[in-house]
Amino acid sequence: MKEFDVVIRNGTVATAGDTMSCDIGIDGGKVAALGVSLPEGRSEIDATGLIVTPGGVDAHCHLDQPMGDGSEMADDFESGTLSAAFGGTTTVIPFACQMKGQTLRAAVTDYHERAKGKAYVDYAFHLIVSDVNESVLGQELPALIEDGYTSFKIYMTYDDLKLDDKDILDVLAVAKREGGMTMIHAENSDCIKWLTEQLVAAGCTSPKYHAASRPAPVEREATHRAVTLAEIVDVPALIVHVSGEEAIRQIREGQARGARILGETCPQYLFLTADDLDLDGFEGAKYICSPPPRDKSNQDAVWKALQSGVFQVFSSDHAPFRFDDRKGKKLKGDHACFNHVPNGIPGLETRMPLLFSEGVMKGRIDLQRFVQLTATEPARVYGLYPRKGTIAVGADADIVAWDPKREVTLTNGLLHHNVDYTPYAGKVLTGWPVLTMSRGEVVCRNGDLVAQKGRGAFLPCDRPEYVKANRVA
Ligand code: URP
Ligand code: ZN
Ligand code: ZN
Repeated sequence: MKEFDVVIRNGTVATAGDTMSCDIGIDGGKVAALGVSLPEGRSEIDATGLIVTPGGVDAHCHLDQPMGDGSEMADDFESGTLSAAFGGTTTVIPFACQMKGQTLRAAVTDYHERAKGKAYVDYAFHLIVSDVNESVLGQELPALIEDGYTSFKIYMTYDDLKLDDKDILDVLAVAKREGGMTMIHAENSDCIKWLTEQLVAAGCTSPKYHAASRPAPVEREATHRAVTLAEIVDVPALIVHVSGEEAIRQIREGQARGARILGETCPQYLFLTADDLDLDGFEGAKYICSPPPRDKSNQDAVWKALQSGVFQVFSSDHAPFRFDDRKGKKLKGDHACFNHVPNGIPGLETRMPLLFSEGVMKGRIDLQRFVQLTATEPARVYGLYPRKGTIAVGADADIVAWDPKREVTLTNGLLHHNVDYTPYAGKVLTGWPVLTMSRGEVVCRNGDLVAQKGRGAFLPCDRPEYVKANRVA
């Protein structure tokens, strides 16, 4: 009788703490042994010459999220998780978004319906809290945290989502009392509104003015305020999609004061700039996201903050809107003012390959940092560790094998999302995921899909370590 279902043999195995040459024995979907010359498995995978890492945890992506403006996300749980798997990601955490007037529970129920039977890899939900009232604070949030929805995003901008400072304090206080993690989108709403009015009045409506309507101080001010509010409540909070030096400084200074502020950044802030929004015609709309990409010196600041530990989490913020589509970027036509273009860009499948190539292969970060940022820390921050985010005995066998020698020129045709463009087309990457395994089952291998849709499971999250210790009973 063979001891293991699968043995992955002879790979260079990297975790958040170590790199080692060893075999991985897998049984019942879990890692059962790490060692040299493990006994033969019922199935054998030869990883000679490959780097083997934990499957990625993309802790910020939007899939099939209902939109209030008539736009539609191009990716649902089927195409989104397929795309994730081909990019080395084995867990996604998209958002069950509360519409104003809706209960949080109704948003969660609806989102489960949207996910049902569709996912290729495992998924958890964050909540988006947009309507703060007594029942949300007193009953719904505490009950949902207890049920495994332990993180929630709040917005400081967007008319249909934003909270004022008092509401933010109330949500943070629930996070502290109940042990939840608050994610904050930090941009100053009134400044954006005022700047947009000025730009539109001056006839400045093309996509490039999106960046002018949301300059770095807009993000800096809101980040400072978000950090301050979390300090006042004395609770950990995570600032999402941080774009550059000014916001980074606010987080760094908060961390230096002892505030438990966490930070997330995304590929768009490493590989795109505001110049990308200044393409001919409406092309720049492909790059409209918020906060907007900045400039080269801000890219450098983001790299430094990834290296130094200011950021713990590297997410895609995949927000899939098709370009040539009246439900996507061209919702209001191809001469629409920048403020009528759906915000967000695709990136689930390219998140890990971009960081592997430009970070690890170019020597900006080591393999440990790569694993920390793409898998281990997101799993820890959102209460999925050690089931997810590591290769250790007892963990789910969510594993990716990378060919460090494979050179790939990115094209949209190569990708598996349902968006009609990638912002990274033409980029030449070194290193590519050639095998993705989820709970011991190979999902894709050498560009072929080998698993069934619907195998992905919902993951209730624990209260994150970061906030558990802080919890006021
Ligand atoms: O532009 C962006 N980032 N769109 C997605 C929604 C969000 O705020 O994360
Ligand atoms: Zn956001
Ligand atoms: Zn987002």
